[in-house]
Amino acid sequence: MKIKIKNTLKSSNTLLIIPVMPNDLKSSAFKNFSKEEVLSKKLIASFSAKKATYLLLAGAQTERILLIGLGEAQPSYKNILYAFRKFGVDFKSQFDNKVTLNLSYVGTAHDAQQIALLTTAAVNGLQLSIYDIGLYKTAERIAHPFAKPTATLTIITEKTFQKEIERAAYEGVAKGKTQLSIMDLVNAPGNKAIPEVLGQWAVNSGKQFGYKTTVFSKKKITSTGLHALLAVNRGSEHTPAFIIMEYKPKNAGKKKLPKVGLVGKGVTFDTGGISIKGSQNMHYMKSDMGGAAAVLGTMELTAKLQLPVHLIGIVPATDNCVDALAIKPGDVINSYSGKTIEITDTDAEGRLILADGLAYLNKNFKPEIMLDLATLTGSSVRTFGYQCGAAFSKNEQLIAQLSAAGNTTGERIWPLPIWDEYQSHMDSDVADIKNFSGRPVAGAISAAKFLEFFTSEHPRWAHLDIAGVAFGDTGFSKQKSATGYGVGLLVEFLKNLVK
Ligand code: BES
Ligand code: ZN
Ligand code: ZN
Repeated sequence: MKIKIKNTLKSSNTLLIIPVMPNDLKSSAFKNFSKEEVLSKKLIASFSAKKATYLLLAGAQTERILLIGLGEAQPSYKNILYAFRKFGVDFKSQFDNKVTLNLSYVGTAHDAQQIALLTTAAVNGLQLSIYDIGLYKTAERIAHPFAKPTATLTIITEKTFQKEIERAAYEGVAKGKTQLSIMDLVNAPGNKAIPEVLGQWAVNSGKQFGYKTTVFSKKKITSTGLHALLAVNRGSEHTPAFIIMEYKPKNAGKKKLPKVGLVGKGVTFDTGGISIKGSQNMHYMKSDMGGAAAVLGTMELTAKLQLPVHLIGIVPATDNCVDALAIKPGDVINSYSGKTIEITDTDAEGRLILADGLAYLNKNFKPEIMLDLATLTGSSVRTFGYQCGAAFSKNEQLIAQLSAAGNTTGERIWPLPIWDEYQSHMDSDVADIKNFSGRPVAGAISAAKFLEFFTSEHPRWAHLDIAGVAFGDTGFSKQKSATGYGVGLLVEFLKNLVK
């Protein structure tokens, strides 16, 4: 989607989109516009402008004018994005690939920062609206008008905001495209998005957007001693991958950049292993690499935006399957850190591969901030449902920074405690730690305590359990599907860090 910024609307044979909140319809600016276009007062009076509602009007000068309702309250990034994504989906057969957007009637957006947020959200939503979940359908797929290379979005704005809007719109497109790409990964089934495919994605993305990617083969994983990843991989027919990505801005010079490390759980399918899961909804376990997708997407978008950070991303990838060679409950395994682990449940596999990812990241890169993201526990879903990710850290400032970023982008997180009293839940008689508490309580917390064991008491580490938010009811597919969660949150966090 090409973006053009203009100060006035010239072409009248266009679809002109105007987002509004209910009160904006009564503003003098909008009334003047209404008069010029001779719009029906009756129709406008009947329009509620509630969140994601639409009114299509024929103007005297402009062929078609579409009002998009944003709802009463200060419109949030999430609501604007949803309204525009839904517009792009619902109206796709009613417009060609050229539309015009005028944001200047939204009453609350008067400063550059708010207009920028509104612009990024709107463009992000339009970009996401081209998403086609039918990856493996054989019938010819009709491309969305915005998916065509000639697609153009013209944004009308005052001169004063032009630069800001241009940058914000670019960010909306860049972010949307990266999200589309990782949504494909999360929605792809376990027989397609195998570890090698995640590795290839990272290699291609790194080449295209300018960051370094190294993918460890099984041989290299073995010689490096990533024993916990290898243990989970024992039951798999697919070779594991350990993906290491590193980004620095092109013209960094000698400037000291904050060094941030990310680890994402890349379980390409989780059967549970020998502690096998029930079959109901097991197909959704193709999404057990939602953490990996967030990390991959964040590497890509950070490189696209050339943020002034030194970013390292690590994705340990394997599926968790059942086989004669698979690890069994009671087995004791080694790990990269040298600590031994008693496997009390093979379905608690994510924390095993993350333990190696975190220990490797910490030892080899020594990041100042260390974050991991994982679809880790059903317990976090039972706690929060689908409204937020669960965040764990002893560093309250880090939690506050993550919360703030998530509140801005609508990818919320909420803290749960990791008090040391919970550590005894993970005590093993035979090894240094066990991987499942065996208790019916505090599952997300004891998982976090397990991970913490492998972070060498890093002072700025946080764990995000995103099992409830990475995959779910999006309103854009019949079954649950990828949400794209995490990229916006992490990139916003990084931006705030260097502000
Ligand atoms: N991948 C699952 C967690 C999960 C559950 C993600 C639901 C998304 C939706 C994870 O590997 C798992 O199986 N966790 C177990 C842990 C238990 C065995 C300690 C769980 O939460 O039941
Ligand atoms: Zn599992
Ligand atoms: Zn899992």
